[in-house]
Amino acid sequence: MRKIIIICSVLSLAFFPRTALTQEKQEQNVPQWAKETPEQKAERMAWWTNDRFGMFIHWGLYSMPSRHEWVMHYERIPIAEYRKYFEHFNPDLYNPSEWAKEAKAAGMKYVVVGAKHHEGFCMFDTKYTDYKVTNTPYGKDLIRELVDAFRAEGLRIGFYYSLIDWHHPDFPYDWMHPECPHLEGGTMMEIDTAATKKANETRDITKYQQYMKNQLAELLTNYGQIDELFLDFSYYEKGHKQWDSEGLLKLVRSLQPQIIVDDRLDLLHTTWGWDFVSPEQTMPEKWETRKHPVTEKEIRVPWETCQTFSGSWGYHRDEASWKSNRQLLSMLIEVVSKGGNLLLNVGPTSRGLIDYRAKASLSGIARWMEVNSRSIYNCTEAPEEFSRPANTLLTYNPKAKILYVHVLTWPTFKSLTLEGYKDKIKYAQILNDGSEIRFRDKNENVELLLPLIQPDTEIPVIEIFLK
Ligand code: GLC
Repeated sequence: MRKIIIICSVLSLAFFPRTALTQEKQEQNVPQWAKETPEQKAERMAWWTNDRFGMFIHWGLYSMPSRHEWVMHYERIPIAEYRKYFEHFNPDLYNPSEWAKEAKAAGMKYVVVGAKHHEGFCMFDTKYTDYKVTNTPYGKDLIRELVDAFRAEGLRIGFYYSLIDWHHPDFPYDWMHPECPHLEGGTMMEIDTAATKKANETRDITKYQQYMKNQLAELLTNYGQIDELFLDFSYYEKGHKQWDSEGLLKLVRSLQPQIIVDDRLDLLHTTWGWDFVSPEQTMPEKWETRKHPVTEKEIRVPWETCQTFSGSWGYHRDEASWKSNRQLLSMLIEVVSKGGNLLLNVGPTSRGLIDYRAKASLSGIARWMEVNSRSIYNCTEAPEEFSRPANTLLTYNPKAKILYVHVLTWPTFKSLTLEGYKDKIKYAQILNDGSEIRFRDKNENVELLLPLIQPDTEIPVIEIFLK
């Protein structure tokens, strides 16, 4: 029997070396400049994986209408009319070191700031357009000021750069574009196809591709080391072909080889065209996976979810769905418990302030992180062998072999049972005050003996040193 199996396997290898072949093919498909072993990639991303928590900043002309960063699209505001914001943009109260201190206090380790959003306005000084901050009444490169301030507080720097551009004369019209010819009385999606086609005849996307490359070269040359690049985004009408995503990424990697790039260039069908996936305003059910293009196996991938305090990314004066401190904290914990990163957004006002609601959210997080951040940094999903009691979230520090039990609802009866934990625990304490938690075996389980009164922190954490 064994002989037959061996012969069969040898034969099948000889005649059907499928995996070996396709893998080889895949290898050949990886552009030379993108070659990297999985170990090298993990090493490049190590700081990011350990830091877990960053600040997203959406700030642009759209902070003036204060009606969402897509206001130009939603209200189909023509470029000429939108110009009033450009002419009045003057964030006189802008003090990026204050923002940096607030981000740092909240435990954020990196910042991703918008250099250009879909509206096309550049928040940095660029040689390639006049539609930039240095030509507004404000007159200074506020990206530079921000980069310097955040760096001084020890945060890493990332840039968000919109692939979509509703201002550039060579960006082809599609239904999203505020000036795209629409059908009389038609909805957002109902465009006048013939008129759009005609209008696009004078628009040369290769010029726009070059514009993006020029600007990315500026951003990745003039501001020191840039650690994350968030390019946004691809959709049915525009994808890797329209952006020349491969050429763009090649340039990016040549200028900043260590940079970590999101997945919105529409290169998800490759192994090399993205570093992490970026679910937006949602919570994945479990650690994100993607099908490997060669082996077709679902594999776990690095992921970073971006989230808002309220519904809008840009400052929105009248938006009211602000998340509570508790919601924000459990979001952060849940993300880490599933092996992901959280990029949490602020949308500063056009005066240059983080408004009172966002400030309150940040300081709520800061209060918790001050004493509990050990359960976030360097942590990830807990190994399967550790069961999760009801109303808790687990994170795990694999190097230190410490398990963190986040107790979302503090038990009424002074006890929490950890099923199947017998002989696994060395020592346990409440994280925020380092007070011992005694425990006892109960068959295969362990009962933690908790104080009746919830520790004085929004979501208490029990730190368990494992054997
Ligand atoms: C979306 C939106 C945008 C926001 C971004 C954040 O793609 O178009 O306004 O900047 O996601 O992830």
